[in-house]
Amino acid sequence: MEIGIDKIGFYAPHLFLDMNKLAVERNVEPAKFTIGIGQEKMAVPPITQDSVTLAANAALNILDEEDQEKIDVVLFGTETGIDHSKSGAVYVHRLLGINPNARAVEVKQACYGATAAIQMAKGHIALNPESRVLVLGSDIARYGLNTGGEATQGAGAVAMIISAEPRVMAFEGPSAYLTDDIMDFWRPVYSDKAMVDGKFSNEQYISFFSKVWEQYKKKTDLTLADFEAICFHLPYTKMGKKALRAVIDETSEAVQERLMENYQVSTQYNRNVGNIYTGSLYLSLLSLLEEKAELAEGSLVGLFSYGSGAVGEFFAGRLQPNYRKHLFTEQHQELFVSRKEISVEEYEEIFEETLPSDGRSIELDIHEDPAAICLSGIKEHSRQYINKQRDVSTWKGEESR
Ligand code: COA
Repeated sequence: MEIGIDKIGFYAPHLFLDMNKLAVERNVEPAKFTIGIGQEKMAVPPITQDSVTLAANAALNILDEEDQEKIDVVLFGTETGIDHSKSGAVYVHRLLGINPNARAVEVKQACYGATAAIQMAKGHIALNPESRVLVLGSDIARYGLNTGGEATQGAGAVAMIISAEPRVMAFEGPSAYLTDDIMDFWRPVYSDKAMVDGKFSNEQYISFFSKVWEQYKKKTDLTLADFEAICFHLPYTKMGKKALRAVIDETSEAVQERLMENYQVSTQYNRNVGNIYTGSLYLSLLSLLEEKAELAEGSLVGLFSYGSGAVGEFFAGRLQPNYRKHLFTEQHQELFVSRKEISVEEYEEIFEETLPSDGRSIELDIHEDPAAICLSGIKEHSRQYINKQRDVSTWKGEESR
């Protein structure tokens, strides 16, 4: 039985900042951000979007009634969860109207969470072939204004349905994985911004990739030439290129050219969204599949997942016959063109506007947020979410205007 990705969707907030403009404001040569780091635009989440709403919006348009009924596990990979106890998966499960006879759990290991969720989904489906598992990778990357990591922020989510006989990509062969207790990037529970040792984290990312790739080759007897493309976790788009360069000499010039060319395609969406932590690898896969029209069915695609702290994994998937028909390319392109640019000043204002942390209730104005699913406030310590498409009676948006 083949197990893999049956559907894959994505959501980013409707606001973005041009990295050239941020560079000017920060007295940095724009080429450092756009070439040196490799980011063009950064998605900026309004206060009405959090990791739950981003995830729910990513899944909303890929689910049909059959999925709502057949999904019996919701796994939510995030490192920007909204509660120490209750999982984001439970909120998303309700917002999307999924079958009550389902499990709903949050999975955390920095940017590796969604990959761990996929591996758990594979096990569940192997035992329950009729099941569909909704895997979510959703985050808001915050380093802080005027920090070294600022140019590598972003926000967004990827949603995948993992099933037997998948229509997009079937996972193939073993994984190679590695854990080591290091402090390259972390976020203590009292902080809403990440701590990062940028240079060390870059070194560790490359070292983890080299080690799991070596292990993978031994397990499978495959080489770089067997892969049409390799997608990477992308905290920023230069990062994967550095890792690929560390091993690329192992192969012929023609294969090097192919892998580098496909790498560029796989960074397109990430370059325009920024870091979305757990979803980043899968956003890169989506970019490759949707932006490269001539990627042949049957191609083997490598996937490198890295979550600081740290866990790394290399695995692979094969593109299925007619996979292109099962993508949501138009929907995603529409999302990109309908975004609105904001100034650096507006970005800074939005960045500083945070939810109360002292238990106060708050009502948020969701009229400006075009997303279907929004955070409308906090009442008695509980976040209030609204699905505008479904909760018509509580969504007074239009009639009260
Ligand atoms: N034109 C083109 N490239 C330029 C440039 C210019 N004018 N100025 C600088 N650069 C290049 C540098 O040569 C460097 O390239 P290299 O990495 O290939 O050597 C790159 O831009 C970054 O410059 P650097 O001086 O290293 O930047 P920095 O000290 O501001 O730090 C990060 C960059 C990425 C380390 C920092 O943004 C960070 O910590 N980000 C978060 C890290 C992260 O996400 N970690 C998690 C990993 S999973």
